[in-house]
Amino acid sequence: MDKTELRFKGKSLMQGFSLKDKQKIEASMYYHLFESDLWKAAGSVGVTLSQSHEWSTEPIIEEGWSAGKTIAVPKCLPKNKEMQFYQLDHFEQLERVYFGLREPKPETSQPVEKNQLDLLLVPGLLFDEKGYRIGYGGGYFDRFIEGYNGKTLMIASNHQKINELPFEEFDQRVEYILTETGITSTYHF
Ligand SMILES: Nc1ncnc2c1ncn2[C@@H]1O[C@H](COP(=O)(O)OP(=O)(O)OP(=O)(O)O)[C@@H](O)[C@H]1O
Ligand SMILES: [Mg+2]
Repeated sequence: MDKTELRFKGKSLMQGFSLKDKQKIEASMYYHLFESDLWKAAGSVGVTLSQSHEWSTEPIIEEGWSAGKTIAVPKCLPKNKEMQFYQLDHFEQLERVYFGLREPKPETSQPVEKNQLDLLLVPGLLFDEKGYRIGYGGGYFDRFIEGYNGKTLMIASNHQKINELPFEEFDQRVEYILTETGITSTYHF
């Protein structure tokens, strides 16, 4: 399967979880994340604002606030397909943009530069054990991870694991994967 077919497969997989199964998987994911040294050591965390078919990131944002972490969320810059992160202190700093996506309002938020983030939570549709991923096809995360020095952790269920994904020279691997069974490192591949 090529990337386009895999992306389609990943999207239908994500839309196919029942609410009950989704919440059960999420509860295990949050448990493993909040217990991890990766999370505990991170003073600042970059995270996306999830849509309904994605693993919900609100509990992660709220736990980060409770733990005194700096939480930063991205605004997409479609012209050059880059992302600018902004510090998020409360959900009122967000606005709805295209496709119902939520983004920080630049006028009410402080920009956070890439290498100020200790930990980046990476979304995606499919992954393999080497840390290659299929995202939404914009290349936003591939561009962002290039030259990023912090830790990268993809959030995905075991159901989203594929034996070997096709990849191109610009595809960036994530270092860690958080599933409902825990965090695994892709380092040895
Ligand atoms: N570092 C880069 N520099 C220039 N173009 C890039 C870079 N990374 C990715 N791209 C472009 O982005 C397009 C989409 O990449 P790809 O199909 O891997 O998306 P994706 O990994 O699913 O998206 P995302 O990274 O947003 O999750 C590619 O066609 C490629 O041309
Ligand atoms: Mg890619």
